Amino acid sequence: MFELVHKNKLPEHVAIIMDGNGRWAREQGLPRMTGHKAGMDTLIDIVGCANELGLKIVTFYAFSTENWKRPLQEVSFLMQLPEEYLQKELHRLIEKNIVITVMGDLEGLPGNTSVAVKKALQATRNNKGMILNFALNYGGRSEILNAVKRVSRDVSDGVLDEEHITEEVFSSYLYTGGFPDPDLLIRPSGELRISNFLLWQMAYTELWFNSILWPDFKREHFLEAILDYQNRERRFGGI
Ligand code: FPP
Repeated sequence: MFELVHKNKLPEHVAIIMDGNGRWAREQGLPRMTGHKAGMDTLIDIVGCANELGLKIVTFYAFSTENWKRPLQEVSFLMQLPEEYLQKELHRLIEKNIVITVMGDLEGLPGNTSVAVKKALQATRNNKGMILNFALNYGGRSEILNAVKRVSRDVSDGVLDEEHITEEVFSSYLYTGGFPDPDLLIRPSGELRISNFLLWQMAYTELWFNSILWPDFKREHFLEAILDYQNRERRFGGI
């Protein structure tokens, strides 16, 4: 399947909602945390595949601003996963020249998560390969509000002229700053919604849904999504 992908027509930026860990665990009579662990293995595999394909940016939705509503035990478990992931994978990511970036309200992260993330940002910031971007404590509406506040502050401080607030300028105030908008959104697990993810940035993103639960999501599904994307005609409102 890998050979079927047109290397000259790759999506530049792919966003992924890793959904279905809890249901996967329940189906097997396992605790939800086991589902999240299995989800982390899928994440590792898909990062490898994205890198081998030569994608420029992959953004994973790891923890939303709404995920705090979950039971404390699950929140604590989810919060410790980035640290665990980085402990296991950072050396490999460095070896592969991958740049790690994070977007979201990072002030709200527990201390140890924040330390692990900062270390990874620092250790990979001069790399030149694929950008591996994690949405952590991220919400699309809160990102937009945050940008509006910063824009408004810059206007009142005289740093920005109201006349110059174009879509491009506004985009630069978002967490995704200089990144291109996602070309493709992948959401497994059968849910047909975008759940407060990259609301501004997904105006013209191609959406790809399937019902596989994230821990069962394999490279073949990822490639299927990429191939599907490559067969679509993107018109961006034109004809
Ligand atoms: C949604 O499934 C998944 C999450 C809220 C967490 C995703 C996190 C990982 C896969 C772990 C790796 C993360 C990092 C940063 C290393 P769900 O719990 O909503 O599943 P359900 O809808 O079936 O209950």
